[in-house]
Amino acid sequence: MQHLTLHNSQHIHKQHLAVDKKSRSLAKSQRPIILWFTGLSGAGKSTIASLVEMKLHAAGQHTYLLDGDNVRHGLNRDLGFTDAGRVENIRRVSEVAKLMVDAGLIVLTALISPFRSERQMARELMEDGEFIEIFVDTSLDFAEEHDPKGLYKKARQGEIKNFTGIDSAYEPPENPDIHLMTSVMSIEEAADAIIRYLTERSLVSEP
Ligand code: ADX
Repeated sequence: MQHLTLHNSQHIHKQHLAVDKKSRSLAKSQRPIILWFTGLSGAGKSTIASLVEMKLHAAGQHTYLLDGDNVRHGLNRDLGFTDAGRVENIRRVSEVAKLMVDAGLIVLTALISPFRSERQMARELMEDGEFIEIFVDTSLDFAEEHDPKGLYKKARQGEIKNFTGIDSAYEPPENPDIHLMTSVMSIEEAADAIIRYLTERSLVSEP
């Protein structure tokens, strides 16, 4: 599939479009960025991302949240949880996020995105300063104890294969832009820390 895609794009030239990222962003009075949440299943990525989106939305910003579980019901419904499935999941979400950033949106992605190389690939798709990596850091013990979807239990019983943290790897970010320890902070505190990071750097206007 990868091969086919590369082959096909050989004879396709980029079309210059008159309305560009700058004009779309200006129309929305905002700077498009991507907030890339990474962490174990059950760490709180989706919950924190959703609260951050609510806060930005309430402040009049134009946002979109790409959540792993949701995207895997549609665009990526053909992908599983092997390493190759995850790599393709992240590649597609990165490309969609890039289009959304080009549309002038503040994009939030909540995917485990377990591999450093794929997160780096996503960063490299964006312009400098656009990609903000947020490590939603929790211990496996903490995530497994809370197990909001009961998936760790199933993974331990062998009902789910290739489960992140159990029999599939998670490579923590070495130098995330934002590092949240969710075993010692509330969802509200985590969301506020992100909003503070963005406003201090004038990436978004004060909510
Ligand atoms: S990723 O690794 O490809 O980035 P993604 O974030 O899209 O994963 O999907 C993870 C979600 O799928 C988890 O929150 C969990 O609900 C569900 N899931 C089902 N099977 C697995 C598995 N084997 N490993 C991790 N998550 C799984």
